Amino acid sequence: MTEPPISHPAHSPLGNSGRSSVSGPSVNEARSALLKRAARDAMDYLEGAGARSVAPSAEAIRNLSALRGPLPPGPTNPEAVLHLLNEYGSPATMAKTGGRYFGFVTGDCLPAALAAAWLVSAWDQNAAHHAQSPVATQLEETAIDWVRDIFGLPIGTGGAVTTGATMANFSALAAARHALLQRSGWDVEAEGLFGAPPITVVVGEEVHQSVIKALGLLGLGRNRVVRVPVDGQGRMRADALPHLDSQTILCLQAGNVNTGAFDPAAALCSAARAAGAWIHVDGAFGLWAAASPEYRKHTKGFELADSWATDGHKWPNIGYDCGIALVREPAALRAAMSIKAAYLVHTEDRDPSNYNPELSRRARGVELWAGLRSLGRQGMASIVERTSAHARSFAAGLKAAGYDVLNEVVINQVLVSFGTPEKTHRTIARLQAEGTCWCGSTVWQGHTAMRISVSSWATTKDDVNRSLAAMLKAAEE
Ligand SMILES: Cc1ncc(COP(=O)(O)O)c(C=O)c1O
Repeated sequence: MTEPPISHPAHSPLGNSGRSSVSGPSVNEARSALLKRAARDAMDYLEGAGARSVAPSAEAIRNLSALRGPLPPGPTNPEAVLHLLNEYGSPATMAKTGGRYFGFVTGDCLPAALAAAWLVSAWDQNAAHHAQSPVATQLEETAIDWVRDIFGLPIGTGGAVTTGATMANFSALAAARHALLQRSGWDVEAEGLFGAPPITVVVGEEVHQSVIKALGLLGLGRNRVVRVPVDGQGRMRADALPHLDSQTILCLQAGNVNTGAFDPAAALCSAARAAGAWIHVDGAFGLWAAASPEYRKHTKGFELADSWATDGHKWPNIGYDCGIALVREPAALRAAMSIKAAYLVHTEDRDPSNYNPELSRRARGVELWAGLRSLGRQGMASIVERTSAHARSFAAGLKAAGYDVLNEVVINQVLVSFGTPEKTHRTIARLQAEGTCWCGSTVWQGHTAMRISVSSWATTKDDVNRSLAAMLKAAEE
């Protein structure tokens, strides 16, 4: 890990394009040596991740100060830069790749997606336009189509690959805003919201904050929403739905971040469709349950919506970052996002910049394509089924030890209370410090709880057993 930097053409980062003029390796040779070392460091890191503490040590975090300081006046040899990163950066990571990271809703990175990410970085494509990267745009389009297919959405549904579900929610809701205001003859992209006819946005009490943030960014207001009461699992109550009309956006949730619960989509969507409302689904992880014949029942009815937001970096384990926005009528998304300029080359092909908030952007659709291609339908179903079974094992083990599991474990999320809020917090702190696994905390309908989100393809039964033992030990007084 601590080998000295190899020799490198002194000026190569600054533009020596061929063989070095005096002696020593060519730019290509030096770059290849650097990348081989990076690959070896990465492989060492991944192979060691399962053996180290999941959380970084306090010392590793302190040592990050070695990476601070003013920008050096002159260049640093790339080998030395990599050495610094691996020496001080790698130990200060959260080891989420080892199969025992259960924080937030965090997938791992599938080998094919990781390998694709390396290749994509070498390609360094700008996925703004087909003209700038035929491969990036085509793979992105294919991947979007595969996601549509897994979710059982209508043919013709279009979309965008985003950085995550927050931007997927934003993009889909921008399409909704466009479509609803167009119905009233208002061109929101041209005129903005000043003087526009009002839109009502209806959300469940348990809406994810990323939807609220997206609404704020869109000028629809974080506080202007109508909130519908939820049941004990966080599901929107269909009997409490307010008046809906064709100027309403109804935001549903497939997969509550705490409980994993799904809104009763069939009832809600039929009421909303009858009223002519736009239905948007935040399905950051839950919608992927549609891949599994066993779990598909939870996603029934969501296909009736107008737009959907999801994540590649959660359940499908595509690696950060990757989200997907899907819109039944892609013309609305295009109207919200399109960009034109004389110097931008437009062809008949689909240009991602006409569907995404960004112009220049990383070709993250390639990793999505690679990860899904490596999984196939069955592979995706197997991640859903395995991780959900692991979640049930956690719940059963914790219940058997006398602790309160606060949710119905319908998919991969478990909420457990170890007693008083203080005891639950103490247990979580001990568990995180002990390092076998990592779980975070939450407050669920007034109860302090530990969250266990089993989202990694790499988690094994042994990881579950070891983690469960660590949890029970941390909970001992
Ligand atoms: C239901 C739900 N929606 C949206 C998000 C936001 O996703 P991202 O962090 O990828 O933007 C999350 C993240 O956990 C989530 O669980």
